[in-house]
Amino acid sequence: MTRDAPAAEPLRVILRHAAERLVAAHAAEDLDEGCLEADLLYGAASGFDRARVIAAGALPAYAEALATFEALLARRLAHEPLAYILGTREFYGMTFEVGPGCLIPRPETETLVEAALAAIAEHPRARRLVRVADIGTGSGAIALAIAQHAPSTQVYGVDVSGEALRWAARNMRRFGLAERVVLLTGDLADPLTEPIDVLCANLPYVPTDDYEDLPEEIRAAEPQIAVEGGPTGIEIIARLADQLPAHLAADATAVIFELGAGQAGFVEDLVTRALSAAGRGPLDVRVHRDLRGIRRVVEVRTGYPTAPPAG
Ligand SMILES: C[S@@+](CC[C@H](N)C(=O)[O-])C[C@H]1O[C@@H](n2cnc3c(N)ncnc32)[C@H](O)[C@@H]1O
Repeated sequence: MTRDAPAAEPLRVILRHAAERLVAAHAAEDLDEGCLEADLLYGAASGFDRARVIAAGALPAYAEALATFEALLARRLAHEPLAYILGTREFYGMTFEVGPGCLIPRPETETLVEAALAAIAEHPRARRLVRVADIGTGSGAIALAIAQHAPSTQVYGVDVSGEALRWAARNMRRFGLAERVVLLTGDLADPLTEPIDVLCANLPYVPTDDYEDLPEEIRAAEPQIAVEGGPTGIEIIARLADQLPAHLAADATAVIFELGAGQAGFVEDLVTRALSAAGRGPLDVRVHRDLRGIRRVVEVRTGYPTAPPAG
């Protein structure tokens, strides 16, 4: 970027003032978060990474970068999500492109990816080919993180939203994963034609009444279809549970669902009942907690070899 006349104040002072405005506008929870966001917005405006923004703190800011920064800051003060303004969000050590039309990947979803990678590594065909589905793929976060970290997989990412799938396709190309990832449009598991070994889903699970209480920032910017899960929150997950027997491979399989606080018991019942009714068993049920200690992910395995007794 070309540099023009420097502004009078040091960058550090300008960014501190911006952080205070973000806190006052309730766009940032506290000054630490405000400072981080101000740094990232100035980084986007100037082309600097955060380390360079901090290192430049004592120097005067440049008017051209400052004008762009003010425009980005105004969007953030109006509660546009930071990830949409920056155009990217880090997830599982990968930088995903995101924007209107797809859910911004959340840190708690990394718990699901961890569980899926373990289920893939322990699958009897782990050294050959494990077929994975990610239902409700959105930006492709889960499907692409799995494909990137588990090279012996063929991954299918399904979404009902064409807009979301366009983001997934951009990310698939960005990470060079088009050979092992197939994106499909449609309702839940309907578009799948291959039997699936490991089926993951982070479907909408916020109950309709709770949706109204979510921060304005989420309701105004992120697609409602990605967040609201129906009257109890688990209606869409329940429909997918009923579809499982028709789409899972006949031998070893794992089903891994992300859910909201307090939903684990209900989802465990839905999945185990659907699989038992189809004669699948014995079932190995696991619940994984996220970093906040919430029972976030339910996993049900069938047909995996049992570990030999210790000792
Ligand atoms: C909570 S978002 C998850 C996005 C992404 N997997 C992630 O973890 O960041 C739920 C996704 O499910 C999709 N979805 C909602 N209903 C669906 C359905 N009936 N069939 C397929 N996808 C659906 C939404 O479009 C949205 O992309």
